[in-house]
Amino acid sequence: MRVVLGVSGGIAAYKAALLLRLFTEAGHAVTVVPTDAALRFVGEPTWAALSGRPVATDVWSAVHEVPHVRLGQEADLVVVAPATADLLARAAHGQADDLLTNTLLTARCPVLLAPAMHTEMWSHPATTANVALLRERGVSVLDPAAGRLTGADTGPGRLPDPEEIFAAALALVPDAEGQHTAYDGGTPAEHGAQALRGRHVVVSAGGTREPLDPVRFLGNRSSGKQGYALAQVAASRGARVTLVSANSDLPVPPGVDVVEVETALELQEAVLAARADAAEVIVMAAAVADFRPRDYLDAKIKKSHAPGQEDSAPTIELVRNPDILAGLVADRGADQVPLIVGFAAETGDESGDVLSHARDKLTRKGCDLLVANEVGRDVTFGKDDTLVHLLRPDTDAARTVGPASKNLVAGAVWDEVADLLHLRSAVPADG
Ligand code: CTP
Repeated sequence: MRVVLGVSGGIAAYKAALLLRLFTEAGHAVTVVPTDAALRFVGEPTWAALSGRPVATDVWSAVHEVPHVRLGQEADLVVVAPATADLLARAAHGQADDLLTNTLLTARCPVLLAPAMHTEMWSHPATTANVALLRERGVSVLDPAAGRLTGADTGPGRLPDPEEIFAAALALVPDAEGQHTAYDGGTPAEHGAQALRGRHVVVSAGGTREPLDPVRFLGNRSSGKQGYALAQVAASRGARVTLVSANSDLPVPPGVDVVEVETALELQEAVLAARADAAEVIVMAAAVADFRPRDYLDAKIKKSHAPGQEDSAPTIELVRNPDILAGLVADRGADQVPLIVGFAAETGDESGDVLSHARDKLTRKGCDLLVANEVGRDVTFGKDDTLVHLLRPDTDAARTVGPASKNLVAGAVWDEVADLLHLRSAVPADG
């Protein structure tokens, strides 16, 4: 496959060298097109050596080959990493003031832009509008990752890992049979990037703990990573985010309001309070305990040392916790607000596979979107990569996303939410 790797002028340009290696090692022919500013960060010899090809730097070299149209026309895929705020602006407005923007204008193949910049630049309305315009036109724009930026500050704006960009890029290109790879974390063109801007969204994350006594609890393996990624991506798309966090020690993403809870009942109370504050979307990513011990003992449960009772053990009686998700669905009025997303942690068994259990759960819970992932002792919980199926009541087809980072899965979930919000706004009030 002929790949054009555009590199614009940000400190993350060095990571594009790793991305380049992934493409060349997978056997693709890569022409690197760095901007002038990118060359101040990583020089031409690096790109030439790693790609094994001449580096195209400006429209005035090898003019007889008409590089400003040929590169774009002949490419099977164009990836720009990092895409700076300036590059996004120039691409959105159709400027053609250097070889890379000329290539973007002439390319008729899939185009993936991987932004990287400071949080303030990413969240500026000008950048948001540019990204929205590009996505509307069918360009795939990844959400940046959150974390340490160039200086001492942290926030959304980091370039996603090269492996992630590589997977997202390959998924845009159909294979020989015309199929796309399973990964589907890119942003479909029709999903408005603006859809979450200014909306109050609530995300529950982590796993509840049900105390038995002052030192013991019944808990689960959820790390909270997926819920935190959902909160971070929603905040980076301009939503007002309340994160109801159950027992997670992850750092709170910038711009997110967090409410810490421990038990299922506390989680329910916090979610209902957030709903009352004009929530338009609630995502129940938390692993909520279905049962809690009937009694909480104020003093630590001691084992008996009485003669003849050395082997005795207490019996713990459990009672049901409320199904918070089902309750949220049942409480909605005719307007079906808020939009509700459920999660299903599933394992296949003799009565069905993960997808069939998930379809049943979608029907049973009555939510608008179900995110089903396969779990087991070594799968998904606490891991950085995940594979999910997104199921909606309005279609029998499930959209499979992954294996991909929880950040990219979060982007795909919000794309579906954006699509559902869009469909709702398109339905007339009496329809
Ligand atoms: N959930 C909830 N309240 C509960 C249990 C689960 O709101 N008491 C939510 C979770 O946050 C998740 C979804 O329900 O969004 C699915 O949870 P899961 O435990 O997988 O499903 P269950 O309803 O427990 O079904 P089953 O035990 O049959 O798998």
